[in-house]
Amino acid sequence: MHIPNLVEARKRTNNKVLIKTDDYKLNDNQKNLGKNKKYFIKTYGCQMNEHDSENISAILSDMGYAKTDILEEADLIILNTCAIRENAHNKVFGLLGRIKHLSYTKNIMVGFGGCMAQEEVIVDEIMKKYKWIDFVFGTHNIVNLPNIIEKAYTNKKQEIEVFSCEGDVIENIPVKRDSKYKAWVNIMYGCDKFCTYCIVPYTRGKQRSRLPKYIIKEVEDLIKNGYQEVTLLGQNVNAYGKDLDIDYNMANLLEDVAKTKINRVRFVTSHPWDFDDNMIDIISKYDNIMPYIHLPLQSGSNKILKLMGRRYTKEKYLNLFDKLKEKIPNVSITTDIIVGFPNETEEDFKDTLDVVDKCKYDGAFTFIFSPRIGTPASKMQDDVSLDIKENRLQKLNELVNKYSKENNDKYLNKIVPVLLEDYSSKKKDYLKGYTDTMKLVNVKADSKYLGKIVNVKITSVKTWSMDGEIVN
Ligand code: SAH
Ligand code: SF4
Ligand code: F3S
Repeated sequence: MHIPNLVEARKRTNNKVLIKTDDYKLNDNQKNLGKNKKYFIKTYGCQMNEHDSENISAILSDMGYAKTDILEEADLIILNTCAIRENAHNKVFGLLGRIKHLSYTKNIMVGFGGCMAQEEVIVDEIMKKYKWIDFVFGTHNIVNLPNIIEKAYTNKKQEIEVFSCEGDVIENIPVKRDSKYKAWVNIMYGCDKFCTYCIVPYTRGKQRSRLPKYIIKEVEDLIKNGYQEVTLLGQNVNAYGKDLDIDYNMANLLEDVAKTKINRVRFVTSHPWDFDDNMIDIISKYDNIMPYIHLPLQSGSNKILKLMGRRYTKEKYLNLFDKLKEKIPNVSITTDIIVGFPNETEEDFKDTLDVVDKCKYDGAFTFIFSPRIGTPASKMQDDVSLDIKENRLQKLNELVNKYSKENNDKYLNKIVPVLLEDYSSKKKDYLKGYTDTMKLVNVKADSKYLGKIVNVKITSVKTWSMDGEIVN
């Protein structure tokens, strides 16, 4: 049994990160454990977690399990959880209630993984109150799932395997991708920024970049398999390479990925701190690097930014923002903003609104500050009432939506490239996809266009999406 430990998780040593190419193995028993059984997986949180679930799915598939999207049909239920805010927790515990009911009527195995599994308090609660959960696995333990599941079957007691150490880079984990046309590609794991509000550096460990040769090989294989788009994934992709022994950074990687000639290259998330001019030059030089950047602001107040440990000022952020707009034609920029951070005054909040007014973002994810146990911000005296926080969030959202709609309005009657990736969930006879600038478009189109990048004329515009039709 390995239970998580926050103090361990906070540690950063100079130990060399190991790159492992043969860690993932299955024995004969494990290859058959899932025969005639079905698994259901529910994923919460960010793209990183989505991609982890694609790895988990592939492992379960190797073990003989078939996938189901119906909870009640499953023999094995996996929850891949997120710890970023309190409401993420609540959703998970809600589903656990439903699963417990199900377990009265049917023999199921339940696995609990992801970022919440890295939290001491959560695992403590699971050990005390959720004894019926069969196994718990951390974000560093996915590669070992076959052993964990095998033990859970044979030992018939709760298996807990959560490492709080820094983790290695495993290069041979299989993947079962949700899309046939666009793919997530991890370029790094973990985060060393330790923004004071954030749990990620604890749940994901120290920053570990993958070697460029493995990333390029993955992209080349995707091209061979007909993929149109890759999104390079990391909590802070601009810091890519800083932990490697070689002289190679995000600008180099972006250029090498662009040179594979894959049709579309995207990347998330960019920390403003590490965004250098070289990167901007490369983005503007290659047509297949998409003109879309997610650039989290968090707050427009220098006092709050400092308390958050973000290491840039409002002025520096705006400077970078203007440079991006100037150098990358047609770029769209979205952001993340937190309101109600401890000690945020009305004045501080106005600074945030001021940045939003200046940047007129294409979109923004907005959040009320949520104290995470173990982070420095959770110990800060919080004198802002929930009422005020909710009020600020609402005001911010109104402003964000206004600019989002204004930006979208500019697309009316324009012709834009869209990668049609799936059937529209809202409209019959429509496919959906994203523009180069990451705008969601519902397009009246035959299914033969699935997986194709087509020119679309925008015929109507809403705050969150647009409609259009294919033009030749
Ligand atoms: N690595 C990304 C962010 C990942 S978390 C980056 O640095 O930009 C996604 C967003 O969740 C963050 O940008 C932040 O706005 C929000 N967030 C993170 N921790 C939070 C907390 N404790 N309370 C409220 N929002 C939080
Ligand atoms: Fe969290 Fe900051 Fe790292 Fe983003 S950069 S994951 S907000 S610590
Ligand atoms: Fe959530 Fe973990 Fe991602 S906390 S946002 S799933 S890195």
